[in-house]
Amino acid sequence: MAKLILATGLAILLNTQLGFSYQLMCYYTSWAKDRPTVGSFKPGNIDPCLCTHLIYAFAGIQNNEIINTSEQDLIDYEALNGLKARNTDLKTLLAIGGWNFGSVPFSAMVSTPQNRQTFIKSVIKFLRQYKFDGLNMDWQYPGSRGSPPKDKHLFSVLVQEMRKAFEKESIEKDIPRLLLTATVAGVIPTIQSGYKIPELSQSLDYIQVMTYNLHDSKNGYTGENSPLYKSPTDTGNSAYLNVDSIITYWKENGAAPEKLIVGFPAYGHTFMLSDPSNTGIGAPTISAGPPGHYTGETGLWAYYEICSFLNVGATESWDATQEVPYAYHGNKWVGYDNVRSFKIKAQWLKDNKLGGAMVWPLDMDDFTGSFCDQGSFPLTSTLKRDLNIHSASCYNSYRGEL
Ligand SMILES: *[C@@H]1O[C@H](CO)[C@@H](O)[C@H](O)[C@H]1NC(C)=O
Repeated sequence: MAKLILATGLAILLNTQLGFSYQLMCYYTSWAKDRPTVGSFKPGNIDPCLCTHLIYAFAGIQNNEIINTSEQDLIDYEALNGLKARNTDLKTLLAIGGWNFGSVPFSAMVSTPQNRQTFIKSVIKFLRQYKFDGLNMDWQYPGSRGSPPKDKHLFSVLVQEMRKAFEKESIEKDIPRLLLTATVAGVIPTIQSGYKIPELSQSLDYIQVMTYNLHDSKNGYTGENSPLYKSPTDTGNSAYLNVDSIITYWKENGAAPEKLIVGFPAYGHTFMLSDPSNTGIGAPTISAGPPGHYTGETGLWAYYEICSFLNVGATESWDATQEVPYAYHGNKWVGYDNVRSFKIKAQWLKDNKLGGAMVWPLDMDDFTGSFCDQGSFPLTSTLKRDLNIHSASCYNSYRGEL
Protein backbone atom coordinates (compact mmCIF):
# COMPACT_ATOMS: atom_id res chain seq x y z
CA MET A 1 0.00 0.00 0.00
CA ALA A 2 2.78 2.43 0.95
CA LYS A 3 4.47 1.58 -2.32
CA LEU A 4 1.26 2.38 -4.19
CA ILE A 5 0.86 5.77 -2.57
CA LEU A 6 4.50 6.55 -3.24
CA ALA A 7 4.09 5.58 -6.89
CA THR A 8 0.99 7.75 -7.20
CA GLY A 9 2.73 10.71 -5.58
CA LEU A 10 5.69 10.26 -7.87
CA ALA A 11 3.54 10.23 -11.00
CA ILE A 12 1.69 13.38 -9.94
CA LEU A 13 4.98 15.05 -9.09
CA LEU A 14 6.42 14.14 -12.47
CA ASN A 15 3.38 15.59 -14.22
CA THR A 16 3.43 18.80 -12.20
CA GLN A 17 7.12 19.27 -12.71
CA LEU A 18 6.71 19.09 -16.44
CA GLY A 19 4.09 21.81 -15.92
CA PHE A 20 2.02 20.54 -18.79
CA SER A 21 -0.18 17.55 -19.35
CA TYR A 22 -1.58 16.30 -22.61
CA GLN A 23 -5.26 15.74 -23.25
CA LEU A 24 -6.65 12.47 -24.54
CA MET A 25 -10.19 13.13 -25.77
CA CYS A 26 -12.18 10.04 -26.74
CA TYR A 27 -15.44 9.87 -28.64
CA TYR A 28 -18.32 7.63 -27.64
CA THR A 29 -20.87 7.16 -30.45
CA SER A 30 -24.44 6.45 -29.35
CA TRP A 31 -25.15 4.17 -32.35
CA ALA A 32 -22.30 1.72 -31.60
CA LYS A 33 -24.47 -0.17 -29.10
CA ASP A 34 -26.69 -1.36 -31.98
CA ARG A 35 -23.85 -3.36 -33.61
CA PRO A 36 -24.17 -7.16 -33.54
CA THR A 37 -22.82 -9.36 -30.74
CA VAL A 38 -19.26 -8.48 -29.67
CA GLY A 39 -19.35 -5.29 -31.79
CA SER A 40 -21.95 -3.72 -29.48
CA PHE A 41 -20.40 -0.93 -27.41
CA LYS A 42 -22.13 0.70 -24.43
CA PRO A 43 -20.96 3.19 -21.79
CA GLY A 44 -20.25 0.17 -19.58
CA ASN A 45 -17.50 -0.90 -22.01
CA ILE A 46 -15.51 2.27 -21.33
CA ASP A 47 -12.48 2.13 -19.03
CA PRO A 48 -12.94 5.36 -17.01
CA CYS A 49 -9.17 5.69 -16.62
CA LEU A 50 -8.30 5.55 -20.33
CA CYS A 51 -8.97 9.13 -21.45
CA THR A 52 -8.94 12.63 -19.94
CA HIS A 53 -12.19 13.53 -21.71
CA LEU A 54 -15.09 11.42 -22.97
CA ILE A 55 -17.23 12.99 -25.67
CA TYR A 56 -20.79 11.86 -26.33
CA ALA A 57 -21.75 11.96 -30.03
CA PHE A 58 -24.21 13.49 -30.93
CA ALA A 59 -26.85 15.92 -29.70
CA GLY A 60 -29.03 17.86 -32.16
CA ILE A 61 -30.83 21.21 -32.51
CA GLN A 62 -34.58 21.89 -32.54
CA ASN A 63 -36.10 25.39 -32.47
CA ASN A 64 -32.57 26.74 -31.91
CA GLU A 65 -32.18 24.68 -28.73
CA ILE A 66 -29.90 21.73 -28.01
CA ILE A 67 -31.79 18.41 -27.79
CA ASN A 68 -31.17 14.70 -27.31
CA THR A 69 -31.78 12.76 -30.53
CA SER A 70 -33.29 9.59 -28.99
CA GLU A 71 -34.99 8.46 -25.80
CA GLN A 72 -32.06 6.19 -25.01
CA ASP A 73 -29.67 9.18 -25.02
CA LEU A 74 -30.75 10.33 -21.57
CA ILE A 75 -30.06 6.90 -20.08
CA ASP A 76 -26.65 6.82 -21.76
CA TYR A 77 -25.79 10.37 -20.61
CA GLU A 78 -26.29 9.16 -17.08
CA ALA A 79 -24.18 6.04 -17.60
CA LEU A 80 -21.37 8.01 -19.26
CA ASN A 81 -21.31 10.72 -16.60
CA GLY A 82 -21.54 8.01 -13.94
CA LEU A 83 -18.02 6.93 -14.96
CA LYS A 84 -16.73 10.09 -13.24
CA ALA A 85 -17.40 8.40 -9.90
CA ARG A 86 -14.54 6.01 -10.77
CA ASN A 87 -12.14 8.71 -12.03
CA THR A 88 -12.68 12.10 -10.43
CA ASP A 89 -10.35 13.78 -12.98
CA LEU A 90 -12.43 12.58 -15.93
CA LYS A 91 -14.32 15.27 -17.87
CA THR A 92 -17.25 14.71 -20.21
CA LEU A 93 -18.34 16.78 -23.18
CA LEU A 94 -21.52 16.61 -25.23
CA ALA A 95 -20.86 16.87 -28.98
CA ILE A 96 -23.47 18.59 -31.11
CA GLY A 97 -23.83 18.12 -34.86
CA GLY A 98 -21.75 15.62 -36.83
CA TRP A 99 -21.52 14.83 -40.53
CA ASN A 100 -25.07 13.48 -40.99
CA PHE A 101 -26.62 16.38 -39.07
CA GLY A 102 -25.14 18.78 -41.63
CA SER A 103 -24.94 22.55 -41.62
CA VAL A 104 -28.44 23.93 -42.07
CA PRO A 105 -29.77 23.95 -38.44
CA PHE A 106 -26.52 25.63 -37.32
CA SER A 107 -26.90 28.36 -39.97
CA ALA A 108 -30.41 29.19 -38.79
CA MET A 109 -29.27 29.23 -35.16
CA VAL A 110 -26.34 31.63 -35.66
CA SER A 111 -28.28 33.92 -38.02
CA THR A 112 -29.70 36.27 -35.34
CA PRO A 113 -28.56 37.42 -31.88
CA GLN A 114 -31.85 36.14 -30.41
CA ASN A 115 -31.42 32.65 -31.86
CA ARG A 116 -27.85 32.49 -30.55
CA GLN A 117 -28.96 33.52 -27.06
CA THR A 118 -31.75 30.92 -27.13
CA PHE A 119 -29.19 28.30 -28.08
CA ILE A 120 -26.57 29.32 -25.50
CA LYS A 121 -29.15 29.38 -22.68
CA SER A 122 -30.44 25.95 -23.67
CA VAL A 123 -26.87 24.57 -23.78
CA ILE A 124 -26.05 25.73 -20.24
CA LYS A 125 -29.31 24.33 -18.89
CA PHE A 126 -28.96 21.01 -20.75
CA LEU A 127 -25.29 20.40 -19.86
CA ARG A 128 -25.90 21.15 -16.17
CA GLN A 129 -29.08 19.08 -16.07
CA TYR A 130 -27.29 15.98 -17.41
CA LYS A 131 -23.96 16.62 -15.64
CA PHE A 132 -21.67 17.23 -18.62
CA ASP A 133 -18.55 19.36 -18.14
CA GLY A 134 -18.74 21.10 -21.48
CA LEU A 135 -19.81 21.34 -25.10
CA ASN A 136 -18.01 20.11 -28.23
CA MET A 137 -19.23 22.00 -31.32
CA ASP A 138 -19.28 19.63 -34.27
CA TRP A 139 -20.62 21.85 -37.06
CA GLN A 140 -19.57 20.25 -40.34
CA TYR A 141 -18.95 22.93 -41.57
CA PRO A 142 -19.49 26.69 -41.22
CA GLY A 143 -19.36 28.12 -44.74
CA SER A 144 -19.82 24.70 -46.41
CA ARG A 145 -22.51 22.13 -47.16
CA GLY A 146 -25.38 24.61 -47.40
CA SER A 147 -24.00 27.16 -44.93
CA PRO A 148 -23.46 30.63 -46.49
CA PRO A 149 -20.07 32.47 -46.45
CA LYS A 150 -21.21 34.85 -43.66
CA ASP A 151 -21.33 31.86 -41.26
CA LYS A 152 -17.53 31.97 -41.03
CA HIS A 153 -17.92 35.21 -39.06
CA LEU A 154 -21.10 34.16 -37.25
CA PHE A 155 -19.48 30.96 -35.96
CA SER A 156 -16.79 33.09 -34.27
CA VAL A 157 -19.46 35.36 -32.85
CA LEU A 158 -21.37 32.37 -31.45
CA VAL A 159 -18.23 30.92 -29.87
CA GLN A 160 -17.29 34.28 -28.30
CA GLU A 161 -20.80 34.79 -26.91
CA MET A 162 -20.94 31.25 -25.58
CA ARG A 163 -17.56 31.55 -23.85
CA LYS A 164 -18.72 34.78 -22.17
CA ALA A 165 -21.98 33.17 -21.06
CA PHE A 166 -20.10 30.14 -19.66
CA GLU A 167 -17.81 32.47 -17.69
CA LYS A 168 -20.76 34.47 -16.36
CA GLU A 169 -22.63 31.35 -15.26
CA SER A 170 -19.54 30.02 -13.51
CA ILE A 171 -19.03 33.23 -11.54
CA GLU A 172 -22.71 33.64 -10.64
CA LYS A 173 -23.09 30.07 -9.40
CA ASP A 174 -19.52 29.76 -8.09
CA ILE A 175 -18.96 26.48 -9.90
CA PRO A 176 -16.30 25.39 -12.44
CA ARG A 177 -16.82 26.90 -15.89
CA LEU A 178 -18.23 24.71 -18.65
CA LEU A 179 -15.60 23.78 -21.25
CA LEU A 180 -16.02 24.83 -24.87
CA THR A 181 -14.30 22.99 -27.70
CA ALA A 182 -14.86 22.66 -31.45
CA THR A 183 -14.09 19.82 -33.82
CA VAL A 184 -12.91 21.38 -37.07
CA ALA A 185 -12.06 20.51 -40.66
CA GLY A 186 -8.69 19.32 -41.93
CA VAL A 187 -9.11 20.06 -45.63
CA ILE A 188 -7.59 23.49 -46.36
CA PRO A 189 -10.36 25.01 -48.57
CA THR A 190 -12.96 23.97 -45.96
CA ILE A 191 -10.84 25.59 -43.23
CA GLN A 192 -10.50 28.78 -45.26
CA SER A 193 -14.25 29.14 -45.81
CA GLY A 194 -15.21 28.17 -42.26
CA TYR A 195 -12.98 29.53 -39.54
CA LYS A 196 -11.54 32.82 -38.25
CA ILE A 197 -8.73 30.95 -36.56
CA PRO A 198 -7.25 33.56 -34.14
CA GLU A 199 -10.70 34.47 -32.77
CA LEU A 200 -11.66 30.83 -32.32
CA SER A 201 -8.36 30.02 -30.66
CA GLN A 202 -8.96 32.78 -28.13
CA SER A 203 -12.45 31.64 -27.09
CA LEU A 204 -12.17 27.86 -27.32
CA ASP A 205 -10.53 25.64 -24.71
CA TYR A 206 -9.47 23.15 -27.39
CA ILE A 207 -9.54 22.90 -31.18
CA GLN A 208 -9.95 19.28 -32.23
CA VAL A 209 -8.75 18.80 -35.79
CA MET A 210 -10.19 16.06 -38.00
CA THR A 211 -6.88 14.86 -39.39
CA TYR A 212 -8.50 11.82 -41.01
CA ASN A 213 -10.75 10.85 -43.96
CA LEU A 214 -7.95 12.36 -46.05
CA HIS A 215 -8.19 9.76 -48.83
CA ASP A 216 -11.05 7.44 -49.71
CA SER A 217 -12.48 5.46 -52.61
CA LYS A 218 -13.97 8.59 -54.23
CA ASN A 219 -10.42 9.44 -55.35
CA GLY A 220 -10.27 6.37 -57.64
CA TYR A 221 -6.85 5.36 -56.33
CA THR A 222 -5.59 3.95 -53.04
CA GLY A 223 -4.55 6.38 -50.31
CA GLU A 224 -4.16 6.65 -46.56
CA ASN A 225 -6.90 7.73 -44.13
CA SER A 226 -4.56 9.71 -41.88
CA PRO A 227 -0.97 9.83 -43.15
CA LEU A 228 1.49 11.80 -41.05
CA TYR A 229 3.33 13.09 -44.12
CA LYS A 230 2.65 13.61 -47.82
CA SER A 231 2.89 10.80 -50.34
CA PRO A 232 4.75 11.36 -53.64
CA THR A 233 1.41 10.57 -55.36
CA ASP A 234 -0.23 13.60 -53.64
CA THR A 235 0.28 16.59 -55.92
CA GLY A 236 -1.39 20.01 -56.16
CA ASN A 237 -4.00 20.53 -53.43
CA SER A 238 -3.63 16.89 -52.37
CA ALA A 239 -0.16 17.71 -51.04
CA TYR A 240 -1.89 19.07 -47.91
CA LEU A 241 -3.85 15.89 -47.18
CA ASN A 242 -1.68 14.79 -44.25
CA VAL A 243 -1.59 15.39 -40.49
CA ASP A 244 1.62 17.43 -40.49
CA SER A 245 0.48 19.87 -43.22
CA ILE A 246 -2.97 20.35 -41.66
CA ILE A 247 -1.71 21.05 -38.14
CA THR A 248 1.00 23.34 -39.52
CA TYR A 249 -1.72 25.26 -41.38
CA TRP A 250 -3.79 25.72 -38.18
CA LYS A 251 -0.68 26.83 -36.25
CA GLU A 252 0.59 29.23 -38.91
CA ASN A 253 -2.81 30.84 -39.20
CA GLY A 254 -3.28 31.70 -35.54
CA ALA A 255 -4.18 28.63 -33.47
CA ALA A 256 -2.37 28.31 -30.14
CA PRO A 257 -0.36 25.03 -30.42
CA GLU A 258 -1.27 23.94 -26.88
CA LYS A 259 -4.97 24.14 -27.81
CA LEU A 260 -4.62 21.95 -30.90
CA ILE A 261 -5.87 18.39 -30.45
CA VAL A 262 -4.82 15.99 -33.22
CA GLY A 263 -7.41 13.53 -34.56
CA PHE A 264 -6.39 9.85 -34.38
CA PRO A 265 -8.70 7.45 -36.29
CA ALA A 266 -9.41 4.00 -34.86
CA TYR A 267 -10.53 2.85 -38.33
CA GLY A 268 -9.38 2.66 -41.93
CA HIS A 269 -10.85 3.37 -45.36
CA THR A 270 -11.28 0.42 -47.73
CA PHE A 271 -11.01 0.16 -51.51
CA MET A 272 -11.49 -2.44 -54.26
CA LEU A 273 -8.40 -2.61 -56.47
CA SER A 274 -8.74 -2.48 -60.26
CA ASP A 275 -5.81 -4.88 -60.56
CA PRO A 276 -5.01 -7.17 -57.58
CA SER A 277 -1.33 -7.18 -58.61
CA ASN A 278 -1.05 -3.37 -58.25
CA THR A 279 -1.26 -2.90 -54.48
CA GLY A 280 0.76 0.21 -53.54
CA ILE A 281 -0.26 3.77 -52.63
CA GLY A 282 -1.89 5.44 -55.64
CA ALA A 283 -2.98 2.12 -57.24
CA PRO A 284 -6.18 2.42 -59.33
CA THR A 285 -9.42 1.36 -57.59
CA ILE A 286 -12.95 0.66 -58.80
CA SER A 287 -14.99 1.28 -55.66
CA ALA A 288 -15.15 1.31 -51.89
CA GLY A 289 -14.55 -1.95 -50.03
CA PRO A 290 -17.37 -4.07 -48.58
CA PRO A 291 -18.92 -3.16 -45.20
CA GLY A 292 -17.29 -4.50 -42.04
CA HIS A 293 -18.99 -7.47 -40.38
CA TYR A 294 -19.80 -5.42 -37.24
CA THR A 295 -19.75 -1.76 -38.30
CA GLY A 296 -21.72 -2.36 -41.52
CA GLU A 297 -20.62 0.75 -43.43
CA THR A 298 -19.37 0.55 -47.01
CA GLY A 299 -15.78 1.80 -47.41
CA LEU A 300 -14.78 1.68 -43.75
CA TRP A 301 -13.50 -0.88 -41.25
CA ALA A 302 -12.97 -0.57 -37.52
CA TYR A 303 -9.42 -1.31 -36.33
CA TYR A 304 -10.63 -4.63 -34.91
CA GLU A 305 -12.18 -5.54 -38.28
CA ILE A 306 -8.83 -4.77 -39.92
CA CYS A 307 -7.22 -7.19 -37.45
CA SER A 308 -9.68 -9.85 -38.66
CA PHE A 309 -8.60 -9.08 -42.24
CA LEU A 310 -4.95 -9.54 -41.24
CA ASN A 311 -5.81 -12.73 -39.36
CA VAL A 312 -7.30 -14.32 -42.49
CA GLY A 313 -4.14 -13.77 -44.50
CA ALA A 314 -4.01 -10.15 -45.71
CA THR A 315 -0.52 -8.78 -46.39
CA GLU A 316 0.48 -5.84 -44.20
CA SER A 317 2.80 -3.17 -45.62
CA TRP A 318 4.41 -0.17 -43.97
CA ASP A 319 4.35 3.09 -45.88
CA ALA A 320 7.63 4.60 -44.68
CA THR A 321 7.09 7.97 -46.39
CA GLN A 322 3.73 8.56 -44.68
CA GLU A 323 4.43 6.57 -41.48
CA VAL A 324 1.19 4.54 -41.65
CA PRO A 325 0.36 0.94 -42.65
CA TYR A 326 -1.85 -0.47 -45.37
CA ALA A 327 -2.98 -4.03 -46.07
CA TYR A 328 -4.40 -5.98 -49.01
CA HIS A 329 -5.79 -9.38 -49.87
CA GLY A 330 -7.21 -10.31 -53.30
CA ASN A 331 -8.70 -7.06 -54.57
CA LYS A 332 -9.47 -5.64 -51.11
CA TRP A 333 -7.23 -2.82 -49.84
CA VAL A 334 -7.29 -0.80 -46.59
CA GLY A 335 -5.27 2.23 -45.44
CA TYR A 336 -5.31 2.62 -41.66
CA ASP A 337 -3.47 3.25 -38.38
CA ASN A 338 -2.01 0.75 -35.92
CA VAL A 339 -0.04 0.83 -32.65
CA ARG A 340 3.16 1.68 -34.54
CA SER A 341 1.68 4.67 -36.42
CA PHE A 342 -0.06 5.92 -33.23
CA LYS A 343 3.30 5.83 -31.42
CA ILE A 344 5.04 7.77 -34.19
CA LYS A 345 2.28 10.38 -34.34
CA ALA A 346 2.23 10.70 -30.52
CA GLN A 347 5.96 11.45 -30.56
CA TRP A 348 5.48 13.96 -33.39
CA LEU A 349 2.65 15.60 -31.37
CA LYS A 350 4.97 15.97 -28.37
CA ASP A 351 7.85 17.29 -30.51
CA ASN A 352 5.48 19.95 -31.85
CA LYS A 353 4.25 20.87 -28.34
CA LEU A 354 0.57 20.37 -29.22
CA GLY A 355 -2.28 19.97 -26.73
CA GLY A 356 -3.03 16.31 -27.16
CA ALA A 357 -4.94 13.70 -29.12
CA MET A 358 -8.53 12.80 -29.83
CA VAL A 359 -9.67 9.32 -30.79
CA TRP A 360 -12.58 8.84 -33.19
CA PRO A 361 -14.19 6.63 -31.97
CA LEU A 362 -13.47 4.44 -28.91
CA ASP A 363 -15.87 1.77 -30.15
CA MET A 364 -13.71 1.05 -33.23
CA ASP A 365 -10.57 0.35 -31.22
CA ASP A 366 -10.22 -3.35 -30.29
CA PHE A 367 -12.09 -2.64 -27.06
CA THR A 368 -12.51 -6.29 -26.11
CA GLY A 369 -8.93 -7.15 -27.04
CA SER A 370 -10.18 -10.31 -28.74
CA PHE A 371 -9.41 -9.45 -32.39
CA CYS A 372 -5.90 -7.97 -32.43
CA ASP A 373 -4.20 -9.83 -29.57
CA GLN A 374 -2.78 -6.55 -28.21
CA GLY A 375 -4.89 -6.21 -25.06
CA SER A 376 -8.06 -4.12 -24.74
CA PHE A 377 -8.17 -0.68 -26.42
CA PRO A 378 -4.67 -1.17 -27.94
CA LEU A 379 -4.69 2.07 -29.96
CA THR A 380 -6.10 4.34 -27.25
CA SER A 381 -3.90 2.68 -24.60
CA THR A 382 -0.84 3.49 -26.75
CA LEU A 383 -1.77 7.18 -26.62
CA LYS A 384 -2.45 6.99 -22.89
CA ARG A 385 0.99 5.53 -22.30
CA ASP A 386 2.94 7.71 -24.72
CA LEU A 387 1.22 10.96 -23.67
CA ASN A 388 1.78 10.15 -19.96
CA ILE A 389 -1.90 10.31 -19.06
CA HIS A 390 -2.17 9.63 -15.32
CA SER A 391 -4.98 10.34 -12.95
CA ALA A 392 -4.53 10.30 -9.20
CA SER A 393 -7.84 8.53 -8.76
CA CYS A 394 -6.76 5.78 -11.15
CA TYR A 395 -3.42 4.76 -9.68
CA ASN A 396 -4.40 1.10 -9.55
CA SER A 397 -4.47 0.94 -13.31
CA TYR A 398 -0.90 2.10 -13.84
CA ARG A 399 1.03 1.01 -10.74
CA GLY A 400 2.67 -1.68 -12.85
CA GLU A 401 4.30 0.89 -15.11
CA LEU A 402 6.36 2.70 -12.49
C1 LIG B 1 -35.35 12.99 -25.57
O1 LIG B 1 -35.59 12.19 -24.42
C2 LIG B 1 -36.92 12.28 -23.91
C3 LIG B 1 -36.99 11.48 -22.63
O2 LIG B 1 -36.63 10.14 -22.84
C4 LIG B 1 -37.90 11.77 -24.95
O3 LIG B 1 -39.23 11.92 -24.48
C5 LIG B 1 -37.71 12.54 -26.24
O4 LIG B 1 -38.54 11.99 -27.25
C6 LIG B 1 -36.26 12.49 -26.69
N1 LIG B 1 -36.08 13.33 -27.87
C7 LIG B 1 -35.92 12.80 -29.09
C8 LIG B 1 -35.81 13.81 -30.19
O5 LIG B 1 -35.91 11.63 -29.31
